[in-house]
Amino acid sequence: MKQLFVLVALFLSAATTCVAEEVPLLQNVLSRSTVSLNGSWHYIVDVQEEGYYDYRMKPTPWGFFQNAKPQKPEDLIEYDFDKAPVMQVPGDWNTQDERLFFYEGTVWFKRAFQWHRNGNRRTLLYFGAVNYDTYVYVNGKLAGHHVGGFTPFNFDVTDMLREGDNFVVLKVDNKRHAEAVPTQIFDWWNYGGITRDVLLVDVESVYIEDYNLQLASLEGRLLSFSVQLNKPLSSQQITLSIPELKIKKTLTTDAEGKAALSMKAKPILWSPATPKLYQVDIQLGSESIRDEIGFRIIETRGKQILLNGNPIFLKGISIHEEKPNGGGRANSTADAHTLLSWAKELGCNYVRLAHYPHNEYAVREAERMGMLVWSEIPVYWTIAWTNADTYRNAVRQLTDMIRRDHNRCNVIIWSIANETPHSDARDQFLSRLSQKARSLDATRLISMAMEVTAANHHKNRLQDNMNQYVDVISFNQYIGWYRDVNDAPKMEWEIPYDKPVIISEFGGGAKYGLHGAKNQRWTEEFQENLYRENCAMLDKIDGLAGTSPWILKDFRSPRRVLNGIQDYYNRKGLFSDDGHKKKAFYVLKEWYQGK
Ligand code: GCU
Repeated sequence: MKQLFVLVALFLSAATTCVAEEVPLLQNVLSRSTVSLNGSWHYIVDVQEEGYYDYRMKPTPWGFFQNAKPQKPEDLIEYDFDKAPVMQVPGDWNTQDERLFFYEGTVWFKRAFQWHRNGNRRTLLYFGAVNYDTYVYVNGKLAGHHVGGFTPFNFDVTDMLREGDNFVVLKVDNKRHAEAVPTQIFDWWNYGGITRDVLLVDVESVYIEDYNLQLASLEGRLLSFSVQLNKPLSSQQITLSIPELKIKKTLTTDAEGKAALSMKAKPILWSPATPKLYQVDIQLGSESIRDEIGFRIIETRGKQILLNGNPIFLKGISIHEEKPNGGGRANSTADAHTLLSWAKELGCNYVRLAHYPHNEYAVREAERMGMLVWSEIPVYWTIAWTNADTYRNAVRQLTDMIRRDHNRCNVIIWSIANETPHSDARDQFLSRLSQKARSLDATRLISMAMEVTAANHHKNRLQDNMNQYVDVISFNQYIGWYRDVNDAPKMEWEIPYDKPVIISEFGGGAKYGLHGAKNQRWTEEFQENLYRENCAMLDKIDGLAGTSPWILKDFRSPRRVLNGIQDYYNRKGLFSDDGHKKKAFYVLKEWYQGK
């Protein structure tokens, strides 16, 4: 009996104790030596988490992470991944298995793969994103745990791997919780699963963990470069090459494994009109990382946003990370290219990637296409402001968002929140978060999507204590839809801050192909008229420096249940869910032509 307890304890510790190390997020994983684990993964839907808890709701050592097989004829194993169906990774489960369309809960995933040791090189297991609460097991042992559905994470699993056959099992749970980020309710589909790439990354035992290269100042055209190794190793030689700028510099790391330098250069500055990117090579020993980097300066002056010293009007549109046709999480350059081309057709030079960090392919494609980006973490609506874990979670997502994209010159605004109810606890949470963002990256603008705080007799006032913590005053307003239909022309605005103003959302719904009088809800004519009136109203706002109307394309939402019209789609798109332009598209296009 005592031996059985010891055995159970042993197995239990293997099940619950991480034996791998979560290492800081690797910069530019796409340029590293990788093996993709994308493709078909077996999955088991586990509504009651039978694969994790025993019937006393205690974590069981015999869980599905073991990927166990009967060894003897009488053995009882009540699951078998290899007999289970498969779905594609990256991808959400909601659009791949119709039984899971509305499903929120746990699904287990298993993938077998080959691995062979390569000297003393390390192997990192990298996930672009998994929604939402993920346990990662390698060969039956816990490699690590991650919470958050829209940012990457990686574990050093070298010491868990064996020559030849290996397997990875994930427990993925997308259930919503009050203390989570996002919290319990949000107006988008809670797509579950391994929604972005899974990669085995092969690196030297000493590797370049992160680097930062950008234009430090317009005067004197100073470039600043810094690099961080994964270990505090001094005297390591690192070479930076930017062939087109005839730059080749060698740096030596200090005791912290860091090195930095500034250098003069005359790059063509990146802008929507000239999205110039330079090939950059960073070498450490035999290992070289290649990146495409643009140089620009973003700042504000009074109520203006300046790009490379020149005032710019952000002609934007908001976008959710859904495939261009028909729904499901978008996760490729092709998906992004289609959505961004629609935005280009609108005349946009800017996109608000709402309400969570979108995949890296989308941000890089936007950079190539000359699209400025607002990137945001899902601190959305009624977050649990006084919960310390919630704050830590928000900080983690913010840190990883900035960590992944800080070399993307098209990203100009980090947004830390959307439509959050005013309270002291909220102010405390968000003021700390904005200071954290600034400490992580002082070269970009900080903002959040606020809300109009007082509106009576057509006088609209925005008063928000967070104004002092942001560089740009952004707010959502739905005049013509959620209030004051046809009153946009009468509206007056009081925004008592000497900062640029962005209308981060405005708009209204229309069912594509439904036509009628302009005061008939859901018709294209109603939406068209709403846009016409709103655009004229916005022209009167002092300090208006940009807009990102809600939204490029109809998107799935469990909150939109009007049969025959919404059918679980938010219909505020200027494009229908399958890519047809609505009449309002042409109103915004014309307005942007005048900007
Ligand atoms: C809000 C919110 C969006 C939502 C939109 C709407 O402003 O930020 O996430 O989809 O309004 O009501 O359509």
